[in-house]
Amino acid sequence: MAFRFHIAAAILALVFTIVHASDPSPLQDFCVAVPDANAGVFVNGKICKDPKLVEAEDFFFPGLNEPGSTSNPLGSNVTTVNVNQIPGLNTLGVSLARIDFAPYGLNPPHTHPRATEILVVLEGTLLVGFVTSNPGMNMKNKLFTKVLNPGDVFLFPEGLIHFQFNKGHSNAVAFAGLSSQNPGVITIANAVFGSKPPISRDVLTKAFQVDKNVVKYLQSQFWRDNHYYP
Ligand SMILES: *[C@@H]1O[C@H](CO)[C@@H](O)[C@H](O)[C@H]1NC(C)=O
Repeated sequence: MAFRFHIAAAILALVFTIVHASDPSPLQDFCVAVPDANAGVFVNGKICKDPKLVEAEDFFFPGLNEPGSTSNPLGSNVTTVNVNQIPGLNTLGVSLARIDFAPYGLNPPHTHPRATEILVVLEGTLLVGFVTSNPGMNMKNKLFTKVLNPGDVFLFPEGLIHFQFNKGHSNAVAFAGLSSQNPGVITIANAVFGSKPPISRDVLTKAFQVDKNVVKYLQSQFWRDNHYYP
């Protein structure tokens, strides 16, 4: 009986760790992160500053009215404000980004492994979309896409591949809320073709069903990250 209970408890514990995909809930008002780069101890999240030493600055970040520079090949710049910019975000499960686009600028297909994203357009016209995970045998991943104008809000569910493209010939600006203090970003092209060390050419040639020279060409590109961490 006791043994069975233990098995059930173990299974439940496992299920809960699997189901609980987003940031864990805080266990106190706040747990302002201390710079822990040299702490020599690594925890899930960051260790807390003494609450008596916490000040308003710990919850503050200025300057998001300034556009990030879009003079790069993608014509976009994602200025991220996460727990590394605002230490007070530690354990609170949210963060923010400002995304600037030059005319025809692109925030290329990417995913946030730990966050859902809700985006609002302030300026310009964006073609956005996300693709579902593999739906099943012989079925295609479904694209949900939309053209957004100022004031429009669009949602990108956690973990799914998405993009934003400025289809107008003026600049565009959007802000995004993300459901993690540290959403993470995997830019698909960078991760697949720009990793170090590189993924074996045999693997990519077969995965993408192309000639080896196509993979060679793609791997020789400089896959720049359009994210900026002030
Ligand atoms: C993004 O903008 C910042 C601030 O203007 C700049 O320092 C950074 O180099 C830009 N990043 C890219 C990829 O252009």
